[in-house]
Amino acid sequence: MRSSCVVLTALVALAAYYIYIPLPSSVSDPWKLMLLDATFRSAEHVCELIQYLGLSHQLLALNFIITSVGQKNAWSSARVKVTDTDFDGVEVRVFEGSPKPEEPLKRSVLYIHGGGWALASAKIRYYDDLCTAMAEELNAVIVSIEYSLVPKVHFPEQIHEVVRATKYFLQPEVLQKYSVDPGRIGISGDSAGGNLATVLAQQFSQDANLKNKIKVQALIYPVLQALDFNTPSYQQNVNAPVLPRSVMVQYWVHYFKGNSDFVQAMIVNNHTSLVVVEATALRARLNWTSLLPASITKNYKPVVQTTGDARIIREIPQLLDARSAPLIADQDVLQHLPKTYILTCEHDVLRDDGIMYAKRLESAGVEVTLDHFADGFHGCMIFTSWPTNFSVGIRTRNSYIKWLDQNL
Ligand SMILES: *[C@@H]1O[C@H](CO)[C@@H](O)[C@H](O)[C@H]1NC(C)=O
Ligand SMILES: *[C@@H]1O[C@H](CO)[C@@H](O)[C@H](O)[C@H]1NC(C)=O
Ligand SMILES: *[C@@H]1O[C@H](CO)[C@@H](O)[C@H](O)[C@H]1NC(C)=O
Repeated sequence: MRSSCVVLTALVALAAYYIYIPLPSSVSDPWKLMLLDATFRSAEHVCELIQYLGLSHQLLALNFIITSVGQKNAWSSARVKVTDTDFDGVEVRVFEGSPKPEEPLKRSVLYIHGGGWALASAKIRYYDDLCTAMAEELNAVIVSIEYSLVPKVHFPEQIHEVVRATKYFLQPEVLQKYSVDPGRIGISGDSAGGNLATVLAQQFSQDANLKNKIKVQALIYPVLQALDFNTPSYQQNVNAPVLPRSVMVQYWVHYFKGNSDFVQAMIVNNHTSLVVVEATALRARLNWTSLLPASITKNYKPVVQTTGDARIIREIPQLLDARSAPLIADQDVLQHLPKTYILTCEHDVLRDDGIMYAKRLESAGVEVTLDHFADGFHGCMIFTSWPTNFSVGIRTRNSYIKWLDQNL
């Protein structure tokens, strides 16, 4: 009896230790977030074990768990018709809202889900719910792109797939089939999907045939650069829930099929040290001491290594490619971009990627709305229904849909 009490106490203490992470009191629903984070971390640890045992790639295993728990069949309601189909060989889930009585043609958004280029799906409940709400509230057609993921494909295949699906959709006969107004199409995505949406918008703005076909871009806590993992938000949120810094850097390395041994060195910016001459000019484009306001930079110091490790860029040159890090694109690429919405969260390593991009776009003459949530955390916009309902999840989603309603 006594020994089982001791064991039980030890287990409870262990569980508490595992669940407890120090969270700022300013974050939305901190206890619930702690539980969400502990669930996600346990799944990650189980999958690391699975990979260690040689049973499967850890990201495949993790995605298997996420999609089998969350998968939802295409289910149409009276207000939104949902269908799974493919656009030029790329799977998509299409959500057709009902038209407004006075407007026969509908607005449309191409949506690219997040998940580190490796996880999640247009078909899981979280994204299905989001796109259903968008289709219903905007009376719009939402195309949620089911692009292939790491480790099946790597950079830049994800980009090729979203470009292919988008180009297919933009054909006049396809738009007509879905009753979409060709002048009112937007692109959007969250996290790694925000990265792909940003890259897509930049590519299209350079193409005379596609240039004016996208009216707005709406980027939700987008991933925009892999050159500096010590921006003030990366420093402030090193161990933040859902997406700690080391996990974000691992997603980057997997996206490039790079060597995971580089992660620790990249965390201290050894990959973009002063000896890496190709990086110097690019680093100036994400120089946060000049791009971010003092209220954000506070007392954080830039991390610039003198020697670092030049091998990393030699092996993974894609780290300096604007198709992976669209924040470093040339000014003349930026100036042709459409009206932009960027949502950022305070408790997110990616906060400053978004704020810096807003600043660079503004300097290039693009109209930008930066929508910042002081109690937001990475990924919060998809957490709107019980049991993972967060007050900030509902507020971010409403604010995003409202902006689309007013600008698309
Ligand atoms: C960043 O900007 C600051 C302030 O404008 C400047 O002093 C510094 O040299 C810049 N750093 C780089 C790497 O361009
Ligand atoms: C970063 O580079 C420096 C200089 O080459 C090296 O001494 C240090 O160990 C590296 N740090 C990591 C974490 O790899
Ligand atoms: C989540 O949903 C439950 C059940 O509907 C509700 O009682 C609770 O207040 C909600 N919490 C938040 C943070 O919205």
